[in-house]
Amino acid sequence: MLKLLLFIVTAICGLTAASQPNYDKRNEVFSYQTHFKTPLGVNWQGPVINISKKVLSADKVPFIEHSAGNSSWLGMNFDYRYVKPVFEILNSTKVPLINRGESHVTVISPPEFTVLATAGITIEQVNKIARDLKIQSSKVVIVCLGKEDVVVADLNKIVYQIIVKIPNLVKIRQKIFQLYIQQGGNSAFFDPRAFWPHITVGFTSGDVFLDQGVYKGYNVCYRPISVKK
Ligand SMILES: *[C@@H]1O[C@H](CO)[C@@H](O)[C@H](O)[C@H]1NC(C)=O
Ligand SMILES: *[C@@H]1O[C@H](CO)[C@@H](O)[C@H](O)[C@H]1NC(C)=O
Ligand SMILES: *[C@@H]1O[C@H](CO)[C@@H](O)[C@H](O)[C@H]1NC(C)=O
Repeated sequence: MLKLLLFIVTAICGLTAASQPNYDKRNEVFSYQTHFKTPLGVNWQGPVINISKKVLSADKVPFIEHSAGNSSWLGMNFDYRYVKPVFEILNSTKVPLINRGESHVTVISPPEFTVLATAGITIEQVNKIARDLKIQSSKVVIVCLGKEDVVVADLNKIVYQIIVKIPNLVKIRQKIFQLYIQQGGNSAFFDPRAFWPHITVGFTSGDVFLDQGVYKGYNVCYRPISVKK
């Protein structure tokens, strides 16, 4: 009897510990965004940044195709007007930033497309899957503001981005993976789940990528972001 009771208590404690951070629907924030730790349980490095809720409505901006031979890529397009205020908070005389005046989440990067192209996948096939799965209507959750401060080829580079969670983009990548396998692609060279979605906000001299050993996941969470009306 006592053993059973102990088992039940342990099971309940285990469940509680494993549960996800609570999502506060009304204020559109995860519990961790209003607390003192990042999703990976380390301290935030700066205060909360506000962003307009309108940034989430990517269905109001057009899908843009990016055809460039074997370096083609797939992106989900965002309205830069709502990302610009975040850029302006981060830009300073001390650390001046530049950006491209547009915002997107890269869904298939040029190096990934080069791999897909080895199985004869075309950018038209990729774009069709994206349109069929309504890429621009994907539900977006903002995770945090990310920051990298790294030295690449003797040059110090600082890069900021909004880290996001967009399950529909993983679904799109998975559909593309299925087509890649169907067309004889080697499964070792493309992983639909090796994906760290983010919206680049700005950088000191240039962007940094996985090729340079940089992961833009929850690991780079630097400041919380709060979504406002
Ligand atoms: C963010 O928005 C809240 C209101 O929701 C406001 O009190 C706060 O001052 C804002 N923070 C900044 C840095 O603008
Ligand atoms: C960033 O800040 C610097 C210094 O204040 C300023 O000269 C520059 O115009 C700003 N850049 C943009 C794109 O607004
Ligand atoms: C693109 O990749 C394919 C497959 O690897 C290759 O046959 C083709 O020559 C490449 N095209 C260009 C323009 O590099």
